[in-house]
Amino acid sequence: MSQMRPPAFVTGATEARRVVAIASPKGGCGKTTVSLNLALALARQGRSILLIDADINGDILSSVNARQRAEAGVFDILRGTHGIQQTLLKTMVPGFSILPAVGKRLPPPDLFLQDHTERWRQILGEASTLADLVLIDTPAGMFGTTHQILAASTHVLGVLQAEVLASRSFSRFAEGLDALPPEARPTIAGVFLNMVQMRQSPSLSVLQDACASLPAGWLFDTSIPHSPAFLQAADQGLPLRHLDELAPPAVAFLFDNLAAEAAQRLELQAAERKPRQFLL
Ligand SMILES: Nc1ncnc2c1ncn2[C@@H]1O[C@H](COP(=O)(O)OP(=O)(O)OP(=O)(O)O)[C@@H](O)[C@H]1O
Ligand SMILES: [Mg+2]
Repeated sequence: MSQMRPPAFVTGATEARRVVAIASPKGGCGKTTVSLNLALALARQGRSILLIDADINGDILSSVNARQRAEAGVFDILRGTHGIQQTLLKTMVPGFSILPAVGKRLPPPDLFLQDHTERWRQILGEASTLADLVLIDTPAGMFGTTHQILAASTHVLGVLQAEVLASRSFSRFAEGLDALPPEARPTIAGVFLNMVQMRQSPSLSVLQDACASLPAGWLFDTSIPHSPAFLQAADQGLPLRHLDELAPPAVAFLFDNLAAEAAQRLELQAAERKPRQFLL
């Protein structure tokens, strides 16, 4: 990873509403996986969370093996055939809803040839009134649809795969944000590493390189290891935490850490506290 220039646009979050795009220059680094598990962890901490799948491939619903459940999605809202309320899917977790990408029919291909930034602003603005936090799983890359969503988001979280090729292309993350007009740039809430392989030195060197070359404050303390538990979760169509209610895989708990860090970085209000007491 080459040395990245310090961001001129990391500012304190001032917006009351948080609309957070999860983005990366490289595909397959875990955006969808992290979006789902992070959204769940934030919801379990007592916040209402709306997770929007903005990838035409509809991978959030694929992750929970429920593609057939979506009648319509955010791209139908974008083209004006549906509204948010009729498109939302509730989950078993109180306060956690998912807005799928598409329904049974794909939108016409020319939808992707136009600039919908203003429409995304309206949709995400409306979505932000329905939950404490809106998370958006974006398609790979920093341009195209992702560029438009970034321009309509208040914050961005970057995902860096702890792998050499991902590291080499990660400069595109800052370049993609720089390509936005300054007034449309989301605040960088941070970057975290996914798929860290502690026994593989090329993977560890990405971690070291990220510590050395990302601008101060970007890198989350929490990183997610490469784990076979994700395969199992995909197989069962569940978030990690729900693989086993009583004894989920250890990596599932890291999403609680990630959520706590994200909440701090996003300056989210603390969720309502239960009275503290130990002995009955
Ligand atoms: N920490 C991890 N350990 C092991 N496998 C992982 C991990 N994170 C994600 N994966 C797996 O890597 C694959 C790609 O993940 P995912 O689909 O979340 O990436 P993505 O960035 O959303 O991809 P795309 O750019 O295509 O949208 C999936 O099979 C997922 O289960
Ligand atoms: Mg994805």
